[in-house]
Amino acid sequence: MKLRSPVNDQAEITLPKQVSDLQKQFTGTVCSSRGDEYNIENNIVDLITQQKEFTLAQSTNHWTLTATLYEDLWRKRSLSLLTGEPFPIEKEKELLIDWVNPKPDGLYLDVGCSTALYARALKKASPKSTIAAIDFSKQMLTEARLKAEADQTDLYLIKADAREMPFFGKTFDGVVMGGTLNELSDELKVLFECKRVLKEGGVMFVMHLIKSEYWYARLMQDSAEWGGLQFWTVDESNKLFERADFTIEEQFTKGIVCFTKLSA
Ligand SMILES: C[S@@+](CC[C@H](N)C(=O)[O-])C[C@H]1O[C@@H](n2cnc3c(N)ncnc32)[C@H](O)[C@@H]1O
Repeated sequence: MKLRSPVNDQAEITLPKQVSDLQKQFTGTVCSSRGDEYNIENNIVDLITQQKEFTLAQSTNHWTLTATLYEDLWRKRSLSLLTGEPFPIEKEKELLIDWVNPKPDGLYLDVGCSTALYARALKKASPKSTIAAIDFSKQMLTEARLKAEADQTDLYLIKADAREMPFFGKTFDGVVMGGTLNELSDELKVLFECKRVLKEGGVMFVMHLIKSEYWYARLMQDSAEWGGLQFWTVDESNKLFERADFTIEEQFTKGIVCFTKLSA
């Protein structure tokens, strides 16, 4: 897999395929074509050269406890709680696979992957595809590695900032982003990056939370905004997608959960 150096956007980094084989531990360094070097520890490639400040919400994702409990305790139940009706994780994965339709030779990216739920689902649906997953939390990537190893799923796990993605333009056939939009500090910059790394006609799957219509739920969202989360109406988030030059192909909302299929 080819990456773009985070310090020199002309320089290429080639990741050996073994890095994605999570059944075998890989620790070492990789070097860009201009000589800058990066660590790979237990298959996680670290491309963060300068850590930016985190919001409170982002900081909690750097706690080992959050990373350990996130998927099993929260994520698997979250859509049923947020939509107000039974919404099993399998239904979300079905929609993901239906809209992204991963090809055997395709290259896909999970942005702000946390424990790489979407990345694992894509790889399971299309075992010959290549999947990269990025997050700036080492703790989340460590948990993603454990879960992918248990599922016998090969993934490239990369510690990187979604505001400056370490990929060349038009690399991916699809980009997926589950719940991350609400947590970003610079959502438009990240959407521009998603558009840049997608091939022409590539697809982007976004699941995000919208502003509630109910005053009591709005009160909770307002206090979460204080911690760094953001919520938009559907129209407001659609404007963001359009500003990043995406076309909205499909969309539906249930409760405060919005699923959108975008094309580049
Ligand atoms: C709500 S969680 C996403 C969950 C995951 N996509 C899922 O579907 O279960 C948001 C994740 O985005 C990561 N994140 C937030 N801002 C980021 C950024 N600028 N670059 C990389 N990761 C980021 C956080 O560390 C966190 O793990």
